[in-house]
Amino acid sequence: MSSDAITTADQGHHLADSRRRIAARIVGRERELELTLAAVAAGRDIILEGPPGTSKTTMLSAITQEWGIPLLFVEGNADLTPAKIVGHHNPARVLREDYSPENFVPGPLVEAMLQGGFLYIEEFNRAPEDTLNTLLTAMADRSIAIPRVGRIEAKPTFRVIASMNPYDNVGTTRLSTSVHDRLNRLAIDYQDADAEEQIVHLRADADRPFGENLARDAVAVTRATRTHPDVRQGSSVRGAIDTTLVAGQLAELREIRSADAEEYPETVYDAMIVALSGRIHLDEAAETTPERVLREIWEDRFILEPAKAAPG
Ligand SMILES: Nc1ncnc2c1ncn2[C@@H]1O[C@H](COP(=O)(O)OP(=O)(O)O)[C@@H](O)[C@H]1O
Ligand SMILES: [Mg+2]
Repeated sequence: MSSDAITTADQGHHLADSRRRIAARIVGRERELELTLAAVAAGRDIILEGPPGTSKTTMLSAITQEWGIPLLFVEGNADLTPAKIVGHHNPARVLREDYSPENFVPGPLVEAMLQGGFLYIEEFNRAPEDTLNTLLTAMADRSIAIPRVGRIEAKPTFRVIASMNPYDNVGTTRLSTSVHDRLNRLAIDYQDADAEEQIVHLRADADRPFGENLARDAVAVTRATRTHPDVRQGSSVRGAIDTTLVAGQLAELREIRSADAEEYPETVYDAMIVALSGRIHLDEAAETTPERVLREIWEDRFILEPAKAAPG
């Protein structure tokens, strides 16, 4: 067992308390939080596999804040070389002083190791192979050898958290089995509708001016983008948050005061265009546009099933 693992009953209590405090800042996600927390408390690294907007960053920042450690973000892409995550020697100082540990500028991996933080690599599967190898070595050894600097030892709370989007299929490397063998994994799906409504209330103050209606409608139409037959990947809760915020401003501009107003449905539609059209990714074969897809979804909600959208 790793020396970082939480082993004693005493620390077990401590972990349960800390879970309670973390949970208080997050809507739902009890199971995902418990499993992620168990993995990192066990001293392990983990990959969170889920589409954008599924509380990954929210959970990680709540955990690192509770632990009082930094959360360092890196986006995985083709430009993420090993030198970028490890760090480099300041070239001007190298010219003056030659290479030395003092003129080394740490990258996020070394920073996370030194500070005992979480290194969060989003879109892990977009990073080049040699970068993945550097990370795997650092994860396995909990230390890293840097030429002309020496060996950097990670503090005990250092973790690598990776994420990837299962819908993402362009420009990605298929992770090798040896990568998978070195990571724990948790698949995370979209929140349920109730949780999404709560998140919208929390982030968009949806109570004004449309009462509960706007949050419910924004969540319903956003969720419908995920199951529309022409859509490969729909919008996350971020689209529902923005639909709510934009509709609120449109209502103000148009002087609409309630969800009973005749103009309310069309206002939601206009907000959907702004907040959702760029967040839905159509199937390659689909002969339609995001706007047409959104009109269909809107008609389903406001014309075919007006009972569901009715004030109440
Ligand atoms: N469980 C949650 N509790 C509170 N807010 C959330 C929750 N999940 C998502 N959010 C909000 O939704 C947005 C996207 O969430 P985020 O955690 O950044 O998703 P991800 O990192 O998976 O892309 C953020 O504005 C965040 O505040
Ligand atoms: Mg995120």
